[in-house]
Amino acid sequence: MLNPMSPTPPSRRHRRALIVVVVGLGLLLAGCAQHAPQDTLRPEGPNATKINGLFDLVFWIAAGVFVLVEVGVVYLIVRYRHRDENPEPVQVHGNTRLEITWAVIPALILLGVAVPTFKTIFELAKKPKDPIRVTVIGHQFWWEYQYTDLHVTAANELHMPVGRPVYLTLKSDDVIHSFWVPRLGGKHDVEPGRVSRITYEASHAGTYLGQCVEFCGLSHANMRLRAFAQSPSDFDQWVSDQKTAAATPASGTQAAEGLTLFGAKGCTGCHTVEGVSTGKVGPNLTHLYSRTAFAGDTFDMTPDNLRMWLHDPPGVKPGSKMPNLGLSGSEITNLVAYLETLK
Ligand code: CUA
Repeated sequence: MLNPMSPTPPSRRHRRALIVVVVGLGLLLAGCAQHAPQDTLRPEGPNATKINGLFDLVFWIAAGVFVLVEVGVVYLIVRYRHRDENPEPVQVHGNTRLEITWAVIPALILLGVAVPTFKTIFELAKKPKDPIRVTVIGHQFWWEYQYTDLHVTAANELHMPVGRPVYLTLKSDDVIHSFWVPRLGGKHDVEPGRVSRITYEASHAGTYLGQCVEFCGLSHANMRLRAFAQSPSDFDQWVSDQKTAAATPASGTQAAEGLTLFGAKGCTGCHTVEGVSTGKVGPNLTHLYSRTAFAGDTFDMTPDNLRMWLHDPPGVKPGSKMPNLGLSGSEITNLVAYLETLK
């Protein structure tokens, strides 16, 4: 029988050490992701860079404090460890000088962190000069973008010109969501009955991924978004494309059949297609097929995915407000043919 006072047996010690090594290596590897599109440590644009600069400063201060404290603790443990020849040390209570010192030093450190923190907060809150203004509306489970001055409505994919700030006004249509494109700037809650503002700006063209970061229901994980930072001329082209009228399919085609079904099946009650319908429950579909993905940026925009979606929306995206319309295979074919014309 084991003596309860005996040290841990070697086999158990080895197992514990192995677990620590495996978990440690796992965490280390997780930090080495090659493809990490939502990496706040690779900031893009002035605001994200400011936030990252503040993070770096606080991180290194915290790292310095950690090292000093740990070195001190280890030194004291070793220096004053119990030895048989040592008598019990003198017992003392209180040391005014020491206590003032360890109150003043942390207060100074906190002050050193507070000044740049407040400075950054105020800088981020400033209204930018000559921005593109976009009202972002969170819905269960997709994002609506209303370009206030450009009179364009989009969904899930935010287009922005490189080098120009985008001033986002955040609102919610239902529950609390949170808007975040990690590489472009801070995240902000999107609350019903409350308006918040945040500025994003990209210095380089590219695609920046983001997502809703407040649990908002069954498909919270399927409430993604992406931002396309484009050259000003590409952005202008996108705006003018979005302003064109919706395509009208030639009569006798599958797409024309699809347009008829779009009305007959009640799609018009929830979706806007300029010149066809004015529904406001789901995304504006006028230029649906100009997007790269749909359903909260969850599925790539392909005919097969649209088929899968129309077959049973809540089945592939739990909690989706779009119901299963019980469409037949040929109805789905015609509807997809129509949706493909909405470029
Ligand atoms: Cu919207 Cu989570």
